[in-house]
Amino acid sequence: MVRFRLLHLSDFHFGRNADVTNLIHRAALNFEGISDVDIDKLVPRSPKQSLIKPTSHDTLAAFGVAKFCYEQKDNYDAVIVTGDLATTGRRADIQFASDFISKRYSESFFDFTGTKYSLAGNEKDCFVIPGNHDRYTSTLGGGPGSVEFDNIFKIFPGASRVYSKILRKKGGSCGLVFADFSLKKRRDVKTAQLAGAELLKGIFGRGNVYNDVLSDLKAETTRLRHVEPGVCIIWAIHFAPYDVGDSLEFQDYPKLLAAAKELNVRLLLCGHTHTRSLQNWDGIHIVCAGTACANDENPTHLLHIVDIRLDQGRMKLKHEDYLFSPDDGEFRRHKS
Ligand SMILES: [Fe+2]
Ligand SMILES: [Fe+2]
Repeated sequence: MVRFRLLHLSDFHFGRNADVTNLIHRAALNFEGISDVDIDKLVPRSPKQSLIKPTSHDTLAAFGVAKFCYEQKDNYDAVIVTGDLATTGRRADIQFASDFISKRYSESFFDFTGTKYSLAGNEKDCFVIPGNHDRYTSTLGGGPGSVEFDNIFKIFPGASRVYSKILRKKGGSCGLVFADFSLKKRRDVKTAQLAGAELLKGIFGRGNVYNDVLSDLKAETTRLRHVEPGVCIIWAIHFAPYDVGDSLEFQDYPKLLAAAKELNVRLLLCGHTHTRSLQNWDGIHIVCAGTACANDENPTHLLHIVDIRLDQGRMKLKHEDYLFSPDDGEFRRHKS
């Protein structure tokens, strides 16, 4: 028997400006010459209300994520972040997210001022995949298409939106395959019928099962099984492959589930909804992470450890959730 423990994080929504609560607040911050006092008069920050997304990250919770990851570093094998690392795909936001993943600071997980922090001190592999927010081209109404995530993280080989990594231990291995199904273009959004007219649906919360990405995902899965016989394949994506309502829809998600079924992939990690969910679809475990530190209208911040035991081709799963307490800034074990 061999055991892998994956720390599953998602939806940081890091931004150049922390604790942004809504679009108006963000626009004011971008307006030079305006002071924090003026902004607070213009836009109430408390209670937190995300009138219009995007928000950014919650500073206390983000520091708590870095602290937890460092203090628990002997309790997991690798970190997986299933998308929406940044608020938008603008360079400043993506760079902030990148610094959180990999920038080293003097005091294990933070710098001497305590205002900068990262996961680099835990010295564990950290694998990321972009989400819809990481692809937004601007703050104010910019649609999909940003490539800053690719420029800064450099995770994908060539033009592909799929990459993989094998984790090995004595007695077994896990093959992680990551795929980005974020919208490529506005016109890839499906249409809806309204009063006899065909209207484009909203572009912001949406993903799409592209045939070329799905094909690469399947090919990479097959390749890993060839080079690593007996490997346990895990798919990691951003969008949740089940019914999450129109505004967060993963278009054509049944095609992804059918492919997972066809290839006997039994574990799928995702995020996007900001709501913790464990589901089983025809033998496929779908594990959706809550948001780790987005400054959202629902401030329930969660981290998760997926505990995988492999024994002669059989997989057993356990899940541990850790809930953030804003009172003392700690993530603690939470049983729902
Ligand atoms: Fe998100
Ligand atoms: Fe998302």
